[in-house]
Amino acid sequence: MLGNFAYCNPTKLYFGDESLQYLKNELAKYGENVVLIYGGGSIKKNGIYDEVTEILKKAAKNVAEISGVMPNPTLEKLYEGIEIARNHNADLLLAVGGGSVCDYAKAVSVSVNCDEDPWEKYYQRFEEPTCDIVPVGCVLTMVGTGSEMNAGAVITNRETKMKIGHVFADESIMPKFSILNPKYTLTLPHYQMAAGIYDIFNHICEQYFSGEDDNTSDYISEGLMRSVIHSSRIANKDMQNYEARSNIMWTATWALNTLVSRGKSTDWMVHMLGQAVGAYTDATHGMTLAAVSLPYYRHIMPYGLKKFVRFAVNVWGVSEEGKTDEQIAEEGLYAMESWMNELGLVMKISELGVTDEMVIGIADATLTMQGGYKVLNHDEIIGILRKSM
Ligand code: NZQ
Ligand code: ZN
Repeated sequence: MLGNFAYCNPTKLYFGDESLQYLKNELAKYGENVVLIYGGGSIKKNGIYDEVTEILKKAAKNVAEISGVMPNPTLEKLYEGIEIARNHNADLLLAVGGGSVCDYAKAVSVSVNCDEDPWEKYYQRFEEPTCDIVPVGCVLTMVGTGSEMNAGAVITNRETKMKIGHVFADESIMPKFSILNPKYTLTLPHYQMAAGIYDIFNHICEQYFSGEDDNTSDYISEGLMRSVIHSSRIANKDMQNYEARSNIMWTATWALNTLVSRGKSTDWMVHMLGQAVGAYTDATHGMTLAAVSLPYYRHIMPYGLKKFVRFAVNVWGVSEEGKTDEQIAEEGLYAMESWMNELGLVMKISELGVTDEMVIGIADATLTMQGGYKVLNHDEIIGILRKSM
């Protein structure tokens, strides 16, 4: 751990199949005006909406709703939610859903009391809030993003075809509490479950594949990756396996709650490529990552060979005997590819709706990060996207 850093994560977590009972205690800490935020209706079908609204009623809350928050929430939808939260004098924003709903709640939270345009302020100039924020609480129903315990909020501007994530530096933007009930994730379709699993795995990779120092964060990351691989194989065969799904849920939170990024420069290039693909196609986040990952990692492998060897041995159990470093590293990526195929992940961006004509636009919309093993130039980005077709 050669760097200097601070660590603080104020989100209180309640985990387990009885965790919703703690919502009552949390609600008591806030004023009466609650805005309940949710997605396209899955929570109405599986009964979570009824359970939550019952608790809100018993707590005598005055509730307004923002419904229909779509996967990859849009700027237009954000403007709508800001108005609702303002008119309701919101004391608490209660997000019930996946990463999209949690992210959206955070974006509303920093915008309700702000006179400036949120897109300009937070997604173009990347400023921190200069106004009072409205507290956010989450009841998580989809696993992957880590949004339940971080300060990230990704918003898509459909007009300019930009999908941008702002990870706020101010930890007060992290949810005040999050309720993680693995049972709630059992109604997810296989496609979403698999996408979420790859999202978790890639969050860890993005932090792991950077830096050269001997760093405790890398050891924690390897343990988290092994847990995801193990539990995902069980859940893939038996989606109703509570134990596997609970491990996946807990791992997702620790994969992106700032813990394993301590002392790391971090990469995030797969996410930049995936987000640009998402801006053009509105595809499921985890699948956009899966489809660009192998061409990207094969491209940067020579620049971070030592770490790719370590990844192969410690995460995938590749034996080193009689092999060159290149062979070991390649075997690691091959093992990762087999696992991805086993999960049924989308491995080509063309299957997500990307056409040859879109490639240059997607490359232009890809932000370049500096923290990984190779800072990509525009031609390299185009090359990786073409290999992902
Ligand atoms: O809208 P409903 O009807 O609820 O359906 C959702 C949605 O269609 C459905 N779903 C959620 N829980 C369910 C369920 N269906 C059945 N049963 C349940 N229990 O799943 C679909 C996907 O939900 P969504 O919230 O969009 O998925 P996810 O959690 O993957 O969130 C994706 C968003 O998070 C951003 C992504 O870019 C994307 O916009 N990210 C946020 C990050 C962060 N805050 O740090 C980091 C990530 O890298 C990511 O970028
Ligand atoms: Zn992600």
